[in-house]
Amino acid sequence: MGDEPVMATNDDASECKRGAVQLGYWEDKYISFFVKQIVKKAPEINRGYFARVRGVETLVQKFLSKSGSCAQIINFGCGFDTLYWKLKDEGLQISNYIDVDFPTVTARKCYMIKRNKQLLDKIHGEDGEVRLSSTDMHAGNYHCIGADMRNLHQLETKLSQAEINFSKPTLFIAECVLVYIENDCVNRLLSWISSKFQSAMFINYEMCNMNDTFGDVMLGNLKARGCNLAGISCCKNLETQKLRYLNNGWLGSNAWDMVQVYHDLSETERHRIEKIEFLDEQELLVQLFQHYCISIGWLTPEFADVNCSGGF
Ligand SMILES: C[S@@+](CC[C@H](N)C(=O)[O-])C[C@H]1O[C@@H](n2cnc3c(N)ncnc32)[C@H](O)[C@@H]1O
Repeated sequence: MGDEPVMATNDDASECKRGAVQLGYWEDKYISFFVKQIVKKAPEINRGYFARVRGVETLVQKFLSKSGSCAQIINFGCGFDTLYWKLKDEGLQISNYIDVDFPTVTARKCYMIKRNKQLLDKIHGEDGEVRLSSTDMHAGNYHCIGADMRNLHQLETKLSQAEINFSKPTLFIAECVLVYIENDCVNRLLSWISSKFQSAMFINYEMCNMNDTFGDVMLGNLKARGCNLAGISCCKNLETQKLRYLNNGWLGSNAWDMVQVYHDLSETERHRIEKIEFLDEQELLVQLFQHYCISIGWLTPEFADVNCSGGF
């Protein structure tokens, strides 16, 4: 099985985000530059994406408030994610931001950024220079690099071209990515990070509690689309999600299913988005939330109390 169906999952995620933004679940001025099509999804899916995006963003904010402006962010399997531009609009200072995906995906992302003034204007360095190849882009503190995360040698070379600094506090994000990668490769990646970086936190969003009938149906649907879920065995439960950090040299870890994450987000925001679309099957949403989670790992103790509570 090739990597194309895995890369195609980015189109699906981006379309879902675009659709939810269009309905007002959250604000993103940039997603429509990457995705033109608006596809209507079920209300449960939109709420799922709301919890996913807001959950991850809450943890990002908490990491940044502890790390300050020398922080770096590496967004693994970034797809068309727009986090860099949103952080820029919020005035959050970081020293370096690196988007990473397969070269086929980053080539498309770089091409769209290059052709769009609003996207380009935000990433220009002080000298206004943008260095581009067909798959990579380096501009100011924004980098978009094409690398296969299973190939650590290629990844390390590309990260050094993106001016990565192993001594600065670094946040890794993998939003629905690790499940497509063989466990051995994820273990090697996590071990490589823990051996190289002085201070880091990892945010991982993906499936959990897959060992039941609902999980079987979800897996069947994904497999029918030709996606090899090579890393699914780590999605057994919250414990397996937490353990993989500890087994690969990380100091600590935590994990919450999306029932918990959603509940921890701001009550005002939950009430606001619950009015956007009528949900006639509450049970289905709960089941969906039970089968996805966010886990975090940390290399240094200052991140041990990071969680989604009070999220915006
Ligand atoms: C479901 S999409 C998620 C995209 C983005 N993180 C988001 O949440 O909007 C999964 C992404 O992971 C990328 N990916 C999967 N395996 C990868 C690998 N071995 N190396 C680099 N990227 C990978 C895919 O190309 C795809 O863009």
